[in-house]
Amino acid sequence: MNERLNAITMRLTEHLHSVITEFQVTENELRTALNFLTEVGKSREYQLLSDVLHVSIAVDNITHAANHDDKSTESNVEGPLYRDEAPIMSPPVNICSVEGTDDEILYVSGQVFSSEDGRPLANAVLDVWQANGKGDYENEDPTQPDYNLRGALLTDENGRYEFRTVVPAPYEIGKGGPVGEFLKEIDRHAWRPAHIHFKLSQAGYKSVTTMLFINDDPWIDNDSIGAVKESLILKIEECNDPKEMSSRGINRKFYTSEYDFILSPEKVSITKNKEEYSIR
Ligand code: BEZ
Ligand code: FE
Repeated sequence: MNERLNAITMRLTEHLHSVITEFQVTENELRTALNFLTEVGKSREYQLLSDVLHVSIAVDNITHAANHDDKSTESNVEGPLYRDEAPIMSPPVNICSVEGTDDEILYVSGQVFSSEDGRPLANAVLDVWQANGKGDYENEDPTQPDYNLRGALLTDENGRYEFRTVVPAPYEIGKGGPVGEFLKEIDRHAWRPAHIHFKLSQAGYKSVTTMLFINDDPWIDNDSIGAVKESLILKIEECNDPKEMSSRGINRKFYTSEYDFILSPEKVSITKNKEEYSIR
């Protein structure tokens, strides 16, 4: 017998019964709920339902705490829009293949460090993906080129990375499906604050999937999937300096931001009172 599954089921059942009693749930409401769950399955929206109920981020927090040391960059959900095999780009990296005139140019740079001894990590891979200045991902928007705003880049010998992109816009999730209808019914919005997704990896270190949120976004305190974390907020700064513009070969204002990532080693052994402790 699966004892853990048994224990979770018992506790979940207790909680369900207490909610049913508290709200005196009717036959009609039960039927509506069951029909809703059937539609969610048919529309393949269980992952999205888990996201908007903030279940995905709660499980992600537990997973990260169990597998990474507490100095490492906090993780976040991957979301459904990741694509494998983003093009590997060499410096100077620009992940945006078509910049609209309304798009704000953004440079993101920083370093990747080891949580063990703080040393910079060369050749760490940053796999990046994001929405454009209208809040659309390329694989959901036929007007964008294939793999636009996606790219994989490596840190240099000092653990440094830099890429050019555009400031992403916030966007709504689950429009048009049963989860979207459910959110409307309970008067909850579906907005996600603007963000850039990252998957970081380096041999001998634990990979981290995370996202960085644009600091002044109107939805920053009210993410529909509850995934904003203070440590993952990217402060972007405007630059109007003509000298800076010409050194970057551009003729309009742009934005810059700095963010350092920290990865934990696959296995750290700490010797303490002659005993070996392993952080796994
Ligand atoms: C995203 O950030 O791409 C995302 C996350 C959860 C649900 C939908 C989209
Ligand atoms: Fe996203």
